[in-house]
Amino acid sequence: MKPLLFSLPGNEPLAKRLFQKMPTELGQMTLRKFPDGETYLRLLTEVTDRHVVLISSLDRPDEKIIPLWLLAKTAKAQGAKKVTLLSPYLPYMRQDKTFHHGESISARHFAELVSGMVDQLITVDPHLHRIGRLEEVYTIPTTLLHAAQPIAKWISTQVEHPVLIGPDSESKQWVSEVAEEAGAPYIVLEKKRFGDRQVEVSVPQLTPYRNHIPVLVDDIISTAHTMIKAVEHLRQAGAKPPVCIGVHAVFAGPAFEELKAAGAGQIVTCDTISHPSNMIDLSDLYVPAIGE
Ligand code: R5P
Repeated sequence: MKPLLFSLPGNEPLAKRLFQKMPTELGQMTLRKFPDGETYLRLLTEVTDRHVVLISSLDRPDEKIIPLWLLAKTAKAQGAKKVTLLSPYLPYMRQDKTFHHGESISARHFAELVSGMVDQLITVDPHLHRIGRLEEVYTIPTTLLHAAQPIAKWISTQVEHPVLIGPDSESKQWVSEVAEEAGAPYIVLEKKRFGDRQVEVSVPQLTPYRNHIPVLVDDIISTAHTMIKAVEHLRQAGAKPPVCIGVHAVFAGPAFEELKAAGAGQIVTCDTISHPSNMIDLSDLYVPAIGE
């Protein structure tokens, strides 16, 4: 039987695209708040013996996790054969260590929570740093998809003479891959973070790339301060307005406007989190990952 897709609020466009691309069925449910703020859920499509796929990108996760948990548990309780979570953006991957005494390693606890909710997880370029593989914290099967090829394709068709720039050492893993796919040179900067919004990024050596268009590539743009610092250095060095590409358009508060004001050229993201900057469609990646 075809997989049965349930989309959490805001994820309906992705569910519809998948419905058009592969044999699936769109599940119906009622999800609303009781007057006291608790969640009411009723499945309107029979899930017994079905492969149920819950589509929920988990930016701003704290408000989404209870409805998702109820949906996963309800599908299981009503006889679903397998429950898959397709979460194009996987949150809580950055606090992966205790930096100060008493801090929670929330990456581990969030992974425990999700591993107890669903049978498998599909996601795109999670922030793997000190946790090198999802299997180190997730106890369910995980499928990790990469945005490098679609990003490289976008760069190849939209940017003449690009030089790719990764803003920190972690970014080397995806910047080098995107650069290879796009046949472009790349450089990687050094970053020091002093607080949520305080970062310092090393000055890029652009001398060999005077006639190139700088293209900053990072996995997450959250406060955008990482990109802003890199953009400022590039503009001070006389570079053309850099194209800024993020896989995950988190854009906390005024981050998008601040990045524009700092002198960014085009700001482009993949569609893992719905945002006006989404220009790179990743839905083709999900089709083989969902399977039957
Ligand atoms: C962390 O190292 C990530 O790869 C990004 O560089 C970081 O999450 C960006 O955060 P922000 O936009 O808040 O500087």
